[in-house]
Amino acid sequence: MVANKDKKAFQLIKGMKDIMPADQKYWQHVRNIINKLAHQFNYQRIDTPIAEATKLFSRSVGDQTDIVEKEMYSFKDRGDNNISLRPEMTAGVVRAYIEHGMVNLPQPVKLFYLGPCFRYDKPQSGRQRQFWQVGWEAIGEGSPILDAQIINLGYKFFKDLSLNVVVQINSLGCQECRPVYYEVLLDFLKGKKNSLCDDCKRRVNKKPLRVLDCKEENCQEITADAPQQVDHLCDDCRDHFVATLEYLDELEIVYNLNPKIVRGLDYYNRTCFEYTSQDNEGTKLNALGGGGRYDGLVEELGGRPTPAVGLAIGLERTVRELRHQDVKVPDVEGYDIFVAQLGKEARKKCLNLYENLLANDVRVAESFTKDGLKPQLELADKLAVKYTLILGQKEMIDGTILVRDMEGGIQEVVDFNKVIPEIKKRLKTRLVEETPVQ
Ligand code: HAM
Repeated sequence: MVANKDKKAFQLIKGMKDIMPADQKYWQHVRNIINKLAHQFNYQRIDTPIAEATKLFSRSVGDQTDIVEKEMYSFKDRGDNNISLRPEMTAGVVRAYIEHGMVNLPQPVKLFYLGPCFRYDKPQSGRQRQFWQVGWEAIGEGSPILDAQIINLGYKFFKDLSLNVVVQINSLGCQECRPVYYEVLLDFLKGKKNSLCDDCKRRVNKKPLRVLDCKEENCQEITADAPQQVDHLCDDCRDHFVATLEYLDELEIVYNLNPKIVRGLDYYNRTCFEYTSQDNEGTKLNALGGGGRYDGLVEELGGRPTPAVGLAIGLERTVRELRHQDVKVPDVEGYDIFVAQLGKEARKKCLNLYENLLANDVRVAESFTKDGLKPQLELADKLAVKYTLILGQKEMIDGTILVRDMEGGIQEVVDFNKVIPEIKKRLKTRLVEETPVQ
């Protein structure tokens, strides 16, 4: 055993955060909207494991991406298997789609998820090593209307949260037209390599597209007039992109054609997009979410050729934005009734009353560890309950209980055996009175 004086209090792992009670109302509000949208758009929830075979991510996200090269939490388990904590969730969902034969279901299969992801990134504002994502994936259809619908889903998510966002959209082409564009881009970058940052110097040969979304000011200046993929799309990809944009116009979605949106994951083709806050448009750090089409991924992971499109949104960044834009969110559901007691026998009886109130679906609070009435009433006040039921020695003898209206402070004596129906009646009347006429 370590001597007490040598014990140091444990601290969070760097880059990971507690979500404290004061923040929960934001998270609850976000979760409510996610569930509402899932129902409206008919997406079914899927939960995949936090850990998967490392190979799943190197094959999907791409073994030469920053995420796989530098940011994965990878380890060998006790059976000598290479395992990684998921840096994102699309790969796991696609694995599940193949493994559970979802290709035999009516297509597209629409799935959504919510859970923590892990990236060993440099911790900074908006960048954590554990963060939560919500995501929607529509697997099994290649039509551009699905691209627009997916973009609309994310757009609605932010709109429902009263957050103003802009969609930054681009097309990454396909296996046919992308290599042609790469040649043109490499040609453009050829004479400029030495002026780029160290990261980009490496990227030029390995991942020239990533040079376009480098955050270094100097690199941004150099690539400001770089050739754009949209000018080098094949006919099919151009038609797909134009149709997607037309659907977005129809949905009145505010978007910005942005050739610098290239995404940091390898599986994308054709449409790709990010959502940026309208306040800080353009700052890459502020991408609240992103996604795109990934028509080759199912096949790459061992399934039949299957087109797909999806998106994911970071929840910490969303909550940060809610706070930043000072959006008011509903308080976590409160209580209507407080049960206060004075004395040992009253406490026992109140324990039972409390259980009965719960069984009657009354939103009831208590503080049975307190003895005096004052701290109990203070808590009742803080919880903003409508009535406090007070049981003292006198009421015990009389078989009654006090009902205190917390708004006016008026107290009435009620028969103990009738207090539950009485309370339910009063709450119902108040509910009718407080509901605004439509
Ligand atoms: P992603 O752009 O890598 O895409 O991540 C989506 C969102 O997750 C980001 O926009 C951001 O809000 C959040 N995020 C990413 N990294 C961090 C971090 N270190 N700290 C805090 N938040 C972070 C994907 O993950 C794709 N799977 C999206 C997708 C779904 N594409 C198709 N389907």
